[in-house]
Amino acid sequence: MKPALVFGTRPEIIKLTPVIRAFLKRGVEPLLIHTGQHYDYEMSAVFLEELKLPEINHHLEVGSGSQAEQTGTAMIKIEKILMEEKPDVTLVQGDTNTVLAGALASVKLRIPVAHVEAGLRSFDRTMPEEINRILADHASEVLFPPTEEARRNLEREGITEKVYVTGNTVVDAVTQNAEVAEGKSDVLKRLGLESKGYILITAHRAENTDNKENLEKLVEILESLPMRAIYPMHPRTRKRMEEFGLLERVEEIENLIVTKPLGYLDFLRLERNAFAIMTDSGGIQEEAIILDVPCLTLRYNTERPETVEVGGNMLVGLEKERALGYINRLMNDAEFYRKMASAPNPFGDGRAGERIAKILLELYEREELGVRSSRFI
Ligand code: UD1
Ligand code: UDP
Repeated sequence: MKPALVFGTRPEIIKLTPVIRAFLKRGVEPLLIHTGQHYDYEMSAVFLEELKLPEINHHLEVGSGSQAEQTGTAMIKIEKILMEEKPDVTLVQGDTNTVLAGALASVKLRIPVAHVEAGLRSFDRTMPEEINRILADHASEVLFPPTEEARRNLEREGITEKVYVTGNTVVDAVTQNAEVAEGKSDVLKRLGLESKGYILITAHRAENTDNKENLEKLVEILESLPMRAIYPMHPRTRKRMEEFGLLERVEEIENLIVTKPLGYLDFLRLERNAFAIMTDSGGIQEEAIILDVPCLTLRYNTERPETVEVGGNMLVGLEKERALGYINRLMNDAEFYRKMASAPNPFGDGRAGERIAKILLELYEREELGVRSSRFI
């Protein structure tokens, strides 16, 4: 079987690596197509190096742009490669513009699509990611929801065939790398941080960063934190902070270290040793719960409701009082801290990559991989 993997951003590289490894273990060399949606060294190449990925077969250099520019350019370039390479199946992971472009380009060439991390829903159609998820799921032939809850979302939309609950490959990624990170990364020493003595922060969602009022609310939260904090800032956020004249204000916060985005080993080590995590990232909400670190999510909804249901994650939006209320409670109420930190991981056993590769190979061998007209969007 010849599978093509289309990816382009930091989380896709991290979460597809376990699938790539599982294919290689079975003697199958997947075709790797990088759209170049993320292109800075610290948003892409650092992960290819640290995770020791095989050579990328096609670099498409799509880069940044408006939603349509980025998705459209990616589609055009992906289509060309798929026509040349004629893979048996195209895998995409998650909900980025790269995912939508890969899924649409592929299904229209009658090359079946397999969606890793299918079925997630925030039920908020103002998010570009929600549109991408829904469309990618409906263009897919094989779907790999990470949890039962995600499977039920698909079922509600009439998608019931070739749906396999696998767990999330993020557990595989964390399991494969967290110990390595403890040995290899010197990030705590480098930044003068003590284990459990700081809050780790990330924020990059369009709804939090693209409008000045919301970004200012984030800055106000950062200014009020009662503990040391570190914020590896996403390039999107840095650009907006500069544009809205907020960057200096953030850099002047005494308790806060602002850095460039970090590599996976440094970041995993920072996560694992954090007192708490505040984030609007999807992957980081998952990793926090896997690593037993309380998570406060800087959003009003989440497509990872399992994290909230098991008690490891609280949605605080950009409400300063709410966010600080939880931080203070975590600092002063040991039982509350213990409960949040020990919430069980709802994302599986770290063998999702193995399952995905195995299921696809079996479908291929049984000649059951093929685009069915009923699921066309
Ligand atoms: C994208 C995904 C988001 C995901 C995130 C992971 C979409 C719609 N969004 O958001 O779901 O959570 O990736 O990090 O696909 N930029 C750089 N260097 C880079 C990449 C981006 O400077 O290497 C800057 C550019 O100014 C760009 C902006 O960041 O315009 C936004 O990048 P983009 O890829 O459009 O979206 P992300 O915010 O990264
Ligand atoms: N990450 C990283 N370095 C950083 C920030 C995040 O390695 O400075 C990793 C993090 O461990 C997680 C993934 O990037 O695996 C999350 O990516 P991001 O927050 O950009 O995207 P999302 O998950 O929200 O789509």
